[in-house]
Amino acid sequence: MRPTIVKDNQPLPSNLAVLKFGGSVLSDAQAVHSAAHEIYRFVRRGEKVIAVVSAIAGETDALMALAKDVGGCENAPGKASLLRLGEIRAAALLALALERVGLDARAVDPAEIDLRAEGSPDDAGLCGLNHDRLAALLAAHEVLIVPGFSGVLEDGQPALLGRGGTDLSAVYLGVALNAKRVRLIKDVDGLYAGDPKTDPNPRRFGQINWEDAREICGHSIQDHALEYAQKHDLRLEIAASARAFDTRIAPNSASSHAPAQTRKLKVALLGFGTVGEGVYAHLDRHQDLFEVSGILVRDAAKERDSNAPAHLISTDAGEVFATRPDIVVEMIGGVDAADAFILNAFFGGADVVSANKAVMAANYDNLHAAAARAGRALRYSAAVGGGVPMLEALDQARKNGGVASVQGVINGTANFILDRLAEGCPFDQAVREAQEKGFAEADPSADLDGDDAAAKLCLMARHGFEMPLRANQISLESLSDLDQASIDAAREAGKVIRQISEIRRDDKGALHASVSLQALDKDHYLAAAKGEQNRLVINLQNGQNLFLRGKGAGRWPTAEAVMADLLDIHRLRGQYEENVSVRAPEPACA
Ligand code: NAP
Ligand code: HSE
Repeated sequence: MRPTIVKDNQPLPSNLAVLKFGGSVLSDAQAVHSAAHEIYRFVRRGEKVIAVVSAIAGETDALMALAKDVGGCENAPGKASLLRLGEIRAAALLALALERVGLDARAVDPAEIDLRAEGSPDDAGLCGLNHDRLAALLAAHEVLIVPGFSGVLEDGQPALLGRGGTDLSAVYLGVALNAKRVRLIKDVDGLYAGDPKTDPNPRRFGQINWEDAREICGHSIQDHALEYAQKHDLRLEIAASARAFDTRIAPNSASSHAPAQTRKLKVALLGFGTVGEGVYAHLDRHQDLFEVSGILVRDAAKERDSNAPAHLISTDAGEVFATRPDIVVEMIGGVDAADAFILNAFFGGADVVSANKAVMAANYDNLHAAAARAGRALRYSAAVGGGVPMLEALDQARKNGGVASVQGVINGTANFILDRLAEGCPFDQAVREAQEKGFAEADPSADLDGDDAAAKLCLMARHGFEMPLRANQISLESLSDLDQASIDAAREAGKVIRQISEIRRDDKGALHASVSLQALDKDHYLAAAKGEQNRLVINLQNGQNLFLRGKGAGRWPTAEAVMADLLDIHRLRGQYEENVSVRAPEPACA
């Protein structure tokens, strides 16, 4: 029997991923950023995400002690009201982390979706939810964050779902919403036939059935949750953040095997500015996966935000490459030096991640050929859209029916400056502010004159149309030519000026591209991009439109996209090194 659902006619997304983050993953408040990486990974694959969270490690115990201390009795009526606050706090922290990246995320209180509990307030089950409300929230946001471990009794009082109850919250939502995947994210990458923390040679299951999982995994997954999943034939994935493998819980058990130890990857950072320092902060929190081997800068004496050890920072590229990195992350900008460094990285056997649209657009074919010759990965998601996965969306759109045209706001600096000008800010000051916020290119004329957007269009042409487009084929209009009278006239006419970048394929298959300044109606989808936000409309050949939006510039959105590429490469290398085929590897751009 399916759960009771208050339902109207709102359709549910067909590509829903329920990701559950337990206390072992949310080890402290900063660990929400690791959860954000995992969520971003699925969002950029085109999946809607419901993140179900436990409290930050230790908080439930602390609240329990407080309940006992103040209430004097473990089962005092207010206990559930107090204990659920741990999950609510974790959900709010995760919402902040996702907002920093630019994902459209919304924390949802269980009462808001009438997540109905039944039974004892200490150890309740779940029995219903307001499907229509949840569907409407899912339609409006990329990510919903639901605090696990509690529901609401018929009389409106909260109830707890027992120890490990967040597993039940995730499984219940997965069944009720017919999720494509329910992934329980833990601190180990699957279910083992022993304790991987103490057993030197444990065997890990590729797939296991629900009963065997209950027997073998002790209480690492809540019993009620496993029972509920089995009853509703819900398959589960048991996984660790950022790891290549997982265990599937499904009707049939398959063989287990001894996993290889995945080694840490050495990463060299070329550039330690707005983006580079953000990437370093993420890598520093993932010392189990990555080790920063060197950081290349122009001026070693410059004051930095980061606490990176001085011995890592060098102005000598030879010294940085001599650390023999597995991955080189290019974040210096420009074309010639960046190109030479990327080629050198391939020559030395490293994979490359770049945030640099200028070099990728100028030398696209050469760089891809060099990567192929060296048998290495070349990733550059951050080069277009900042934290908005535009290239990935174009890849998917191209494969699923084809792209007719694209139109977007794809330069955060220009958009920020246009907003400031409309507010009456002088031009020079608006440019200075964009620089101070880390949005602008080293030479901001690239943003103002449309060259930055043009480089992005060149990359979009490759991914959306599989066609070359040269920057000199793109007509450009510069912000520097915009006068105050035009801005005032647009405002008075209820319009908003935007830098609009477009590619259109004509009947003969030729591409036409431009970066122009257009006065749009206020309610136009692209007019609503605020500040550094980017927005994109992909017109598909079947007449449908895809809409994307998010933060297109700045440290954290951009570092998130770079980190996603790094984690993908780590997973791919993990699969290679483990050299066992538990199931088909994920596609290269997963
Ligand atoms: P940034 O703040 O100006 O930082 C550039 C860094 O590269 C600095 O650390 C600089 O060293 C170093 N550098 C520059 N040229 C060098 C050279 N020839 N040799 C050694 N080091 C060199 O730039 P950013 O904003 O981080 O942008 C980096 C790249 O990411 C660019 O390609 C940009 O287009 C792209 N991107 C940026 C954003 C964004 O929002 N900022 C978003 C998406 C993509 P010093 O620190 O010593 O000067
Ligand atoms: N300068 C660029 C912008 C950075 O403002 O969009 C992101 O690519």
